[in-house]
Amino acid sequence: MPSTASPTGRGGTAPMYEDGVVRAFALASVLWGVVGMLVGVIIAAQLAWPELNLGIPWLSYGRLRPLHTNAVIFAFGGCVLMATAFHVVQRTSQVRLFAPKLAWFTFWGWQTVIVLAAITLPLGITSGKEYAELEWPIDLLIAVVWVSYAIVFFGTIGVRRVRHIYVANWFFGAFIIAVALLHIVNSAEIPVSLTKSYSAYAGVQDAMVQWWYGHNAVGFFLTAGFLGMMYYYIPKQANRPVYSYRLSIVHFWALIFTYMWAGPHHLHYTALPDWAQSVGMLFSLVLLAPSWGGMINGVMTLSGAWHKLRDDPILKFLIVALSFYGMSTFEGPMMSIKTVNALSHYTDWTIGHVHSGALGWVGLISMGSLYHLIPRMYGRTEMYSKRAIELHFWIATLGIVLYIAAMWIAGVMQGLMWRAVNPDGTLTWTFAESVKATYPFYVVRLLGGLLYLGGMCLMAWNVVLTTRVGHTRAQPIPPVAVPAAA
Ligand code: HEM
Ligand code: HEM
Repeated sequence: MPSTASPTGRGGTAPMYEDGVVRAFALASVLWGVVGMLVGVIIAAQLAWPELNLGIPWLSYGRLRPLHTNAVIFAFGGCVLMATAFHVVQRTSQVRLFAPKLAWFTFWGWQTVIVLAAITLPLGITSGKEYAELEWPIDLLIAVVWVSYAIVFFGTIGVRRVRHIYVANWFFGAFIIAVALLHIVNSAEIPVSLTKSYSAYAGVQDAMVQWWYGHNAVGFFLTAGFLGMMYYYIPKQANRPVYSYRLSIVHFWALIFTYMWAGPHHLHYTALPDWAQSVGMLFSLVLLAPSWGGMINGVMTLSGAWHKLRDDPILKFLIVALSFYGMSTFEGPMMSIKTVNALSHYTDWTIGHVHSGALGWVGLISMGSLYHLIPRMYGRTEMYSKRAIELHFWIATLGIVLYIAAMWIAGVMQGLMWRAVNPDGTLTWTFAESVKATYPFYVVRLLGGLLYLGGMCLMAWNVVLTTRVGHTRAQPIPPVAVPAAA
């Protein structure tokens, strides 16, 4: 039942949504998307032509690679997550953002983290932990910004006018809490100077904490929050209710419980005790069920409205994102089987898996959600050019297919070459021969990356023109609350 609280939730008088910060995060995500993918293209080119390192340390592959991963995951992905969480939580709670000033602090704080990352990583300042490379002063800033983000999000839920908490908010909420926990535990470190620290953990414990973090960064940063987007923007764009609300609740609890235990699949055949590796493998296999349950729930939301896919390019982005989600969450459990991992680990197969999830799932669902969100934030119902969205969709999809197909073939080839032995027990191929054989696939991957980046640039152009012809009048909060699940 809706309560009778004021729309501001705090006794204020202006019943308007706080959308300025949503707009800022949405525009920042497009900018960082272009930058992060450009760095991805540069390192893809460096793998094909190592001379492109140019002998300059801060342009070297080893420094630009973490810049790429941080830019696409935390700058692009992070800004999309914050834009959509702040948009969705207001609409489904029918209330203005709690503590708007803190929301703006979250925005500027997060941009400062991004700029500091862009300066320190090329300088070679790194903790050396994958996806957690930033040094301790930046880690502290991240913790402060994240707590502000959490206060704004949960504060808004706290003052909501709709009794029911819509399922998208459960996914956003779990993502926010889990990332806080992961960041604080994995970043425990002992500073030795302003720019250098060492992990508080040692040896195999350090590896285990790192991959508990790493895998849950995938599960919560790259998955749970984006599932929140799926549960809001697909029903909105298709104008249909979620296929099964009951399934969405089962999906939520099953997914968040299972993800937490699967991390050891990153440490097969290492010093980690064998039983822990097996637990990781088992939970990874179980993870297939909630992942596919969620995917089916999203795709089936379109039942009875399949024809909309034909002429709505935004729906194409959202639904094809789910097919890539299904593909990567089938592939992941298979790769977690120890004998399969013995072939795939260290090869480009892993890179293919990563990018079917990253480009196909994270990238496409973000782009679809932003194409829905941005015009509405500028007082329009549609983007400036619908044809440009359609073109974006096709070049991005072609780019993904080229990227991941090239990496799969290269990966399996590398795995097979490394394990091939002659009758006398010597290796059939030298490592250098496998690198040479991979060269054509690196060129194809670069082509795929260029197409994907091209699509992102087209999006940036479309967004700029949409903001130019639109207006930023505040949107009123509906006077009477209706249950969000209706
Ligand atoms: C134009 C698009 C992109 C290109 C060309 C590209 C290219 C690359 C390259 C060349 C690598 C290094 C591979 C290696 O070390 O062998 C890489 C790693 C990575 N990229 Fe991308 N990337 C792109 C977009 C993205 C996006 C959008 C995301 C995430 C949302 C992403 C996430 C990652 C991750 C997580 C890794 C590390 C993988 C690992 O360590 O196993 N990339 N990328
Ligand atoms: C059911 C879901 C999934 C499972 C069980 C799973 C499992 C795996 C396995 C077994 C590996 C290889 C580990 C290794 O040999 O080092 C891996 C790597 C990876 N996966 Fe997944 N995966 C899943 C979904 C996803 C999705 C949806 C994404 C992206 C959005 C993703 C991103 C990654 C990344 C970034 C890595 C590389 C980590 C690194 O070594 O740097 N995964 N995953």
